[in-house]
Amino acid sequence: MQIGTPLSASATRVMLLGSGELGKEVIISLQRLGAEVIAVDRYPHAPGHQVAHRWYAIDMSDPAALRALVEQERPHLIVPEIEAIATDELARIETEGLAEVIPTARAAQLTMNREGIRRLVAEELGLPTSGYAFAESLEALQQAIDGGVGYPCIVKPVMSSSGKGQSTLHGPEDLESAWNYAMRGGRVQRGRVIVEAMIEFDYEITLLTVRAADGEGGIATHFCEPIGHRQEQGDYVESWQPQAMSARALEKARQIAQQVTSALGGRGIFGVELFIRAEQVWFSEVSPRPHDTGMVTMASQYQNEFELHARAILGLPVDTSLRENAASAVIYGGLEAKGIAFEGVAEALQIPGSDLRLFGKPQSFTRRRMGVALARAESVEQARERALEVARRVRPVPGE
Ligand SMILES: Nc1ncnc2c1ncn2[C@@H]1O[C@H](COP(=O)(O)OP(=O)(O)OP(=O)(O)O)[C@@H](O)[C@H]1O
Ligand SMILES: [Mg+2]
Repeated sequence: MQIGTPLSASATRVMLLGSGELGKEVIISLQRLGAEVIAVDRYPHAPGHQVAHRWYAIDMSDPAALRALVEQERPHLIVPEIEAIATDELARIETEGLAEVIPTARAAQLTMNREGIRRLVAEELGLPTSGYAFAESLEALQQAIDGGVGYPCIVKPVMSSSGKGQSTLHGPEDLESAWNYAMRGGRVQRGRVIVEAMIEFDYEITLLTVRAADGEGGIATHFCEPIGHRQEQGDYVESWQPQAMSARALEKARQIAQQVTSALGGRGIFGVELFIRAEQVWFSEVSPRPHDTGMVTMASQYQNEFELHARAILGLPVDTSLRENAASAVIYGGLEAKGIAFEGVAEALQIPGSDLRLFGKPQSFTRRRMGVALARAESVEQARERALEVARRVRPVPGE
């Protein structure tokens, strides 16, 4: 593939759909390789808007608005960064040859709804997942649980992310509040939920998997070292790389990731989420794009997950090797205000091996991710301690 000159007729134009903290890093990586980047998000001054050649704030779930912008900008590549997009319109855009969708429009369609990806992985590919069922009413949910899923279990809206609308049920007494919470937390009020049997895992990982050109006209699959992470209320708070695993479990994890990503196809990075107990491995879900827990790779790898994505989508070779043990810890807003400030940054960066990203989001919420702390160290344990300390020292305060 040729790469042109940005802002000229030869430009290689890439449109990011979703320009949050992950999109921002993808944009920076693309620009380093000479691409012209158009950042799209639902609100102005999103993190990626601040580093792009041009930016737009539109409703990306509106097919007409999405098509109009694509026809205006004529990107060569469209890179979804979020799930809530008019993916059927993306499929039409791809079919018409208007632009190439990364990794594929079908991958975006299948993963925006938990039902699509779950049925593909469990029913078509026959890979191990938790027991599950779908329901569209409280009664159907009860039947699904009584009829096989059992307790404890987890109810999730089929369209949601970051743990929104999700709850754990320990017995029938939790049923009604779980249903009501899912109806409020879903992205669109389709009234459909998945109920999953709770897997008692020892640990969970994200296996970043890259599909990149092999230089001979085909695609090769590359794996990063496994990333361990800790979730609170369905949201990641801490991640580290590498997560220690038995050779057998790692082999199984890679086989699952290989099968899932080749079924989704295209080029780019995927975050394959897996649960592990001893030598057993279950597929949980997959992002056909960089993964939030993968922010640790900004400290741990020669090419971080954003650079890997940028290279893969431009048809360039990738190197997924680990450079150093590292960890990341999330910095939350902790307050509800616009235009906040951060104190303690200098103290935080005094910690050896530390680094930081402040995303530049215009508005803070108590549980909004405003930045991420990074730290390298001899051991993963030390890296985790350092990253947590870096995050602790950064204090969001009201702006002046
Ligand atoms: N069946 C399950 N068994 C055990 N734990 C689970 C199960 N499903 C979800 N979890 C826990 O909840 C977390 C969030 O679940 P999941 O990834 O499905 O939600 P999400 O809303 O897509 O979150 P995100 O968008 O942050 O990935 C998982 O990482 C895991 O810790
Ligand atoms: Mg998840």
